Amino acid sequence: MADERPSLTSWDALSRRAVLHTATATTLAAWWRQTHAGAGAAVSFTSVDFADPSPLVLPQGYTAHVLYRWGDPTGVPRGQPAFKPDASNSAAEQALQAGMHHDGMHFFPIDAQRGLLALNHEYTDEGLLHTDGTRDWSARKVAKSMNAHGVSVVEVRRAVDGTWQLVRPSRYARRITASTPMRLGGPAAGHKLMRTAADPAGRRVLGTFANCANGATPWGTYLTCEENFHYYFQSPDEPDAHQRRWNLAPKGNALHWSDFVERFDLRRHPNEFNRFGWVVEIDPWDPMSTPVKRTALGRAAHEGAACAVSHSGHAVVLMGEDAAFERIYKFVSRDKVHPGDDAAARRANRTLLDHGTLYAARFDADGRGRWLPLVHGQGPLTAANGFADQGEVLIKARQASDALGATPMDRPEWTAIDPVTGAMYVTLTNNTQRGAPGRPGPDAANPRGPNPMGHILRWRHHGDLDAETFDWDLLVLAGDNRNTDAQTKGQVPGDAFGSPDGLVLDPAGRLWVHTDASSSVLGKPGGPYAHLPRNQLLVCDPAASGGPQFRRFLIGPPGAELTGASFTPDGRTLFINVQHPGERTDAGALDRNHPATAYAQAWPEPGVRWRSATVVITRDDGGVIGG
Ligand code: FEO
Ligand code: CA
Ligand code: CA
Ligand code: CA
Repeated sequence: MADERPSLTSWDALSRRAVLHTATATTLAAWWRQTHAGAGAAVSFTSVDFADPSPLVLPQGYTAHVLYRWGDPTGVPRGQPAFKPDASNSAAEQALQAGMHHDGMHFFPIDAQRGLLALNHEYTDEGLLHTDGTRDWSARKVAKSMNAHGVSVVEVRRAVDGTWQLVRPSRYARRITASTPMRLGGPAAGHKLMRTAADPAGRRVLGTFANCANGATPWGTYLTCEENFHYYFQSPDEPDAHQRRWNLAPKGNALHWSDFVERFDLRRHPNEFNRFGWVVEIDPWDPMSTPVKRTALGRAAHEGAACAVSHSGHAVVLMGEDAAFERIYKFVSRDKVHPGDDAAARRANRTLLDHGTLYAARFDADGRGRWLPLVHGQGPLTAANGFADQGEVLIKARQASDALGATPMDRPEWTAIDPVTGAMYVTLTNNTQRGAPGRPGPDAANPRGPNPMGHILRWRHHGDLDAETFDWDLLVLAGDNRNTDAQTKGQVPGDAFGSPDGLVLDPAGRLWVHTDASSSVLGKPGGPYAHLPRNQLLVCDPAASGGPQFRRFLIGPPGAELTGASFTPDGRTLFINVQHPGERTDAGALDRNHPATAYAQAWPEPGVRWRSATVVITRDDGGVIGG
């Protein structure tokens, strides 16, 4: 299937803007080959095929094993409750076990045989979480739901037989939940829009949730990103303009947390809403450390936060906001990074992400672009326009980006920064609203409307990573050339895919792309995903002399999304998460109460509940993954 290279004539069906791109692409591709000459990031395995019915489909010569499932004990020394297959574990037990719906993940090495995995638990399937599913909401169910969210830090070790296992108990093991005390840092800490009855100073928050993708800093901390936080609140009957801009629907209350935990009722505590939507920095090496919400990085439905250091020594954090027509952000620290990744370096860098400049991206039609600073007092970001100070600019980053004219994108998901070349990448997962009546139409950086398949964009700065201008082009327009219309055919050199989401560079510079197409479209006859029944992980060498070729490496269980790929520094072990296996859609709606019969096919253990899980992938000959 690696020979499905579409003809260039599919460009013809697209706009002139796309043709302009092709010219820019040529220049960038030439630069790319120069900068990667001799990088040796070859991809050499045979693509896997959807005809294989195995729940996890891997190339020949690779082995996967399940490491850490929802409900498995984390290894916290004070208690290691076993998972109960009927989901009767209590809320207190859940707080010592793996949360649900594993997402972004990062491996922090200790030595060649040991390390820490920090991973997010994005959301819950309440139908699986409780013995009797979503019937009769109760304080007990809400407490368990809150404890199934957040982050895990677990210790892993390679055993003598070569397999990776959890270390239990471990002095590093930790669960962070929707109730864990956290601190606010940066310009919005203490702001009047952050003050609540429980926290009149506006500096302490309980918990993190909706943690989607992630990042890791060069000084050894974990960044977890709050994405779809708006679902968790009881919204007012008539949301105000600020609440509406942040997608609060009138009377919305998807999870019923507010019925039992008052702070989630925005009719009574409107500012609690402003205390979510941040990037949270966690020190995974100290289970007693207090996580800090870094407000200088801006508020958004954050997907991820890729972090690198510029040649000038400043931290650069690249972030996508996964919502239709939202933006891509870049933060540049004011101060220089203190080198190293030990405890002394973490101490020295403990306020680094509290001071700096946040920018939103504008992509111009000529293949260039500019980072627009979200700085109070500059341009339209003034008190007269509703921004009293820098704190308000950051809390209302969407409104600030609107005022600046940043480019509304097709749902920016993960970002990646190549530390060798300085190239940056972002996945735009899809946007079926592009070109719909009353919504923005196609533009240079989002050339299809509607865009059900998504695309990947890359750019390089004019100079250092912290520069304000750049060149950009499209790495790939996702799609399947077996489709008949140009919009969904796309232009993928190699194996077909759509809805790119997770994006990770391995130690050799290969680009790994996870897909997250909705179960409501996967494999649906006549639709754009008719020939793509499951989500997948693909890899390409972005520096290949003929351009990148996408190759399908892994297919996930039915209903699942693959996410969170993270490699050991030697590239020989891949940790990856399987999220929401078995997710079903009936008549387009999520089936929240899974009938017991549905568990017969369950993954990873048939007959038991479907469980999101971390999987370890190694090569039988001990070689580099994908190489
Ligand atoms: Fe949580 Fe945008 O995926
Ligand atoms: Ca995602
Ligand atoms: Ca997604
Ligand atoms: Ca998803």
